[in-house]
Amino acid sequence: MEQPPKPPRIKKGEQVEMTMEKFADRGKSLARVNGYVVFVAGAVPGDRVRARIFKRKKGFAEARLLEVLSPSTLRTEPRCRYVGTCGGCKWQHVSYEAQLEAKRQSVAEALAHQGGFDAASLVIHPTLGAAETYFYRNKMEFSFSQHRWLTPDEIASGTSFDTDFALGLHVPGNYLKVLDLQECHLQSELSVRLVNGVRAFAKAHGWKPWHIKAHHGFLRHLVIRQGTNTGETMVALVTNGYDADRMQQLAGHLQEHFPEVTTFVNIINTGVAQTAYGEAMHTVFGPGVIHDTIGSYRFEIAPNAFFQTNTRQAERLYEVARDFAGFQPDDLVYDLYCGAGTISLFVSAAVRQVVGVELVEEAVANARANAKANGVTNCTFVAGDMLKLFTPDFVRQHGRPDVLIVDPPRAGMHPKVVKQIAALRPERFVYVSCNPQSQARELGELQDLYAIEAVQPVDLFPHTHHIENVIKLRARS
Ligand SMILES: C[S@@+](CC[C@H](N)C(=O)[O-])C[C@H]1O[C@@H](n2cnc3c(N)ncnc32)[C@H](O)[C@@H]1O
Repeated sequence: MEQPPKPPRIKKGEQVEMTMEKFADRGKSLARVNGYVVFVAGAVPGDRVRARIFKRKKGFAEARLLEVLSPSTLRTEPRCRYVGTCGGCKWQHVSYEAQLEAKRQSVAEALAHQGGFDAASLVIHPTLGAAETYFYRNKMEFSFSQHRWLTPDEIASGTSFDTDFALGLHVPGNYLKVLDLQECHLQSELSVRLVNGVRAFAKAHGWKPWHIKAHHGFLRHLVIRQGTNTGETMVALVTNGYDADRMQQLAGHLQEHFPEVTTFVNIINTGVAQTAYGEAMHTVFGPGVIHDTIGSYRFEIAPNAFFQTNTRQAERLYEVARDFAGFQPDDLVYDLYCGAGTISLFVSAAVRQVVGVELVEEAVANARANAKANGVTNCTFVAGDMLKLFTPDFVRQHGRPDVLIVDPPRAGMHPKVVKQIAALRPERFVYVSCNPQSQARELGELQDLYAIEAVQPVDLFPHTHHIENVIKLRARS
């Protein structure tokens, strides 16, 4: 029988028209063209688009969006002028309902493809959305650079810009250039004023931003942290060296023009790595920390301390974890990968004892201090690597848990930790994750031992593709 002719291969550089089918990895959308799966950033399922292929591999290609020929009904008007250029929130042009459903879908797909579960038979609740979809972050880290990235609008305006100084966010895929942000809808109106105010002050005083490639200059990062529920505000300026006079000048400026700032710290980073952490810290004014509350607990937040970046939705996340755990007053709970002990403290009143494990010593010190400051006496925090610590000896020492809560980093748990969970097999198990892929893979390995009772995605990061997901498991009898 005569074979139908093969569709023509798509080529790099070629312009293609296609209708986008669904959301895919990292917030892109995908379409199928001539047997290829084509990924397009900025496109939305339902869009008819024209795009140029810039990468072609075996079976898939990537294309740059050139024109939306017919827009999807899932589209909405973005609020920010930098959408499409800035890496901060790539889904502003997608309606919030569609974002939430896309997140639920991606959890279901991860469970099916990575975990081998029959997703249709699982109870996967609709994603718990945020009441505030803008100005929700309590922390932002802005970068200084001697290389300013100009947006297409800025170039088209014909205005000449000072491109040697930028304070803002990196554009995706470019470590050198920084978008000079005049507006941003992620943190707060105060945060935007601070960015513009610090930039203007630094420029007026001739302070040089960091040269990311040649490693010279003074100003490296501006970190702004705010207590959502307390209103306390920290400005942390990361510089390449300590200059007491300059810090006093900026302190005076902040106190005069930004009375909302409760503390100002200067972090020194003389290393080449682009990080807001440093080798020394000076508190210029205020206590050097801020506070925020989750539930009835108050947390102290140091400049570099880990704290969930969306306070209100973190509380929703912890409520889901607490409800899924079905606590009894006599329960012994393990909170593994506990950070600064926020989940431990949040659930402490409902149970007999919580044992938290965390790698970072500073976070464990914070956890202990937070427990003490809140008058919580039934939480024990242990510092160390889960891989080495989580052994039968550890269980002999601290007792067999009734409930296990885990909240590992993106990479997930070490396979040996998963094996140890299988050996220990507490009846109730709640898995909180910021990476549904690794979560599904690990739970796939535990399928014979644990049944999934419910799945609840929670949206902590509106307008991005990031998801937090909580899974309720019960040991099979
Ligand atoms: C997603 S955070 C969890 C934070 C905490 N549950 C919260 O909500 O604030 C993951 C934590 O795991 C810790 N961690 C990473 N690898 C670890 C390991 N091998 N052993 C113990 N803790 C680890 C990190 O330092 C981090 O604090």
